[in-house]
Amino acid sequence: MQTPATSLTGRRIVLGVTGGIAAYKAADLVRRLTEAGAEVQVVMTANAQRFVGAQTFQALSGTPVRSSLWDETAEAAMGHIELARWPDLILIAPASANCIARLAHGLADDLLTTLCLASDRPVAIAPAMNRLMWAHAATQANLHTLMHRGVHVLGPGSGGQACGETGEGRMWEPLQIRDAVAALLHTGRLNGVRIVLTAGPTREPIDPVRFITNRSSGKMGYALADALARMGAEVTLVSGPTALPVPAGTRRIEVETADEMLAATQDAAAQAQILIGAAAVADYRLEAVAEHKIKKKADTLDLRLVKNPDILATVRAAHPQLFVVGFAAETEDLAEHARDKLLRKKLDLIAANWVGSGRAFDRDDNALHVFWAGGERELAHGPKSRLARELADLIAERYLAHPAAAR
Ligand code: CTP
Repeated sequence: MQTPATSLTGRRIVLGVTGGIAAYKAADLVRRLTEAGAEVQVVMTANAQRFVGAQTFQALSGTPVRSSLWDETAEAAMGHIELARWPDLILIAPASANCIARLAHGLADDLLTTLCLASDRPVAIAPAMNRLMWAHAATQANLHTLMHRGVHVLGPGSGGQACGETGEGRMWEPLQIRDAVAALLHTGRLNGVRIVLTAGPTREPIDPVRFITNRSSGKMGYALADALARMGAEVTLVSGPTALPVPAGTRRIEVETADEMLAATQDAAAQAQILIGAAAVADYRLEAVAEHKIKKKADTLDLRLVKNPDILATVRAAHPQLFVVGFAAETEDLAEHARDKLLRKKLDLIAANWVGSGRAFDRDDNALHVFWAGGERELAHGPKSRLARELADLIAERYLAHPAAAR
């Protein structure tokens, strides 16, 4: 049984194995990571394969090992640039002195170093080497460079070494590395926290065959649901119509109209601690939906619309204990409108983005400006999956600092 703190459910890890006797411990590390729920793709350097066979890692990770930039079959299945974007973390264990030097100098002369250079994901290294190589000024300078760039250095420990000497340079034990990885990825930070998240567009029927809707694809809301679930939250996704698959570990309730979305959200919110409104709710619906298909008889057609309930404001009023996060989609005066919505809807956090031609809706990238009482943070332009992770981290940070989290 895993304790919540070591859960890596749904986390993707590229495990780089470099040449060193500690490579045999990396086999046990694969087992520890996968036991904790992580998906592991092993990438071996040529020297690593002199110590342990790729078959061992393939058997333990359930996936063929990658080792070459020039493997056409593997590249056809997932190109190295795609692989660089795939993981939540690149972990190199053991990281040899040579590997550390190549990373510090930005070399890309094999698959592993190329992945590190082509990826914007966090990198962690677990060094393993002889104590004199570890203490050498060159190695220490290279480590300094890497740490300055944000690379996480796990270990090393000290003790008896394979070469018969005793000192610093032993790779951390697999369990120690696994726990450090879990802490690094903030998994479990929202363990057991119940979140209701609305996403996607709503559809307001005109007659049995037509409806009013908007350009929302649901991608940002779904990416956020996915990121929150990976942090241990129990996410109920109240979703308007989209073509997206249900994110792993979330419960989806499918709705069409704003009224249905409100009812489902009200229900789920009674048990929740956090409410997030990522849906693009239609502000108006038809006053009367035609019972039969409207025929094109007249030259003009008037549709009378009435205002839809505001889901966030209504649910917030009914459940004042909730920590509430809203989105604001704006075409002008972004900060002013976002701050106004924060106050008007009594939100705890609002994530604002620009919308309009070529921006945000139905795209895979976005940028966000997040506001709360007394603070703000810009989340730079990038893929929605990365933004969702950053926003999920910020939501956790603000929620855990809020009195609502103490209940
Ligand atoms: N929202 C909601 N219910 C509605 C309308 C919006 O819960 N009927 C939520 C959205 O999910 C989002 C936030 O309120 O989190 C802001 O949505 P937005 O459409 O930008 O704001 P509106 O309040 O509709 O204001 P306006 O149309 O004037 O910009």
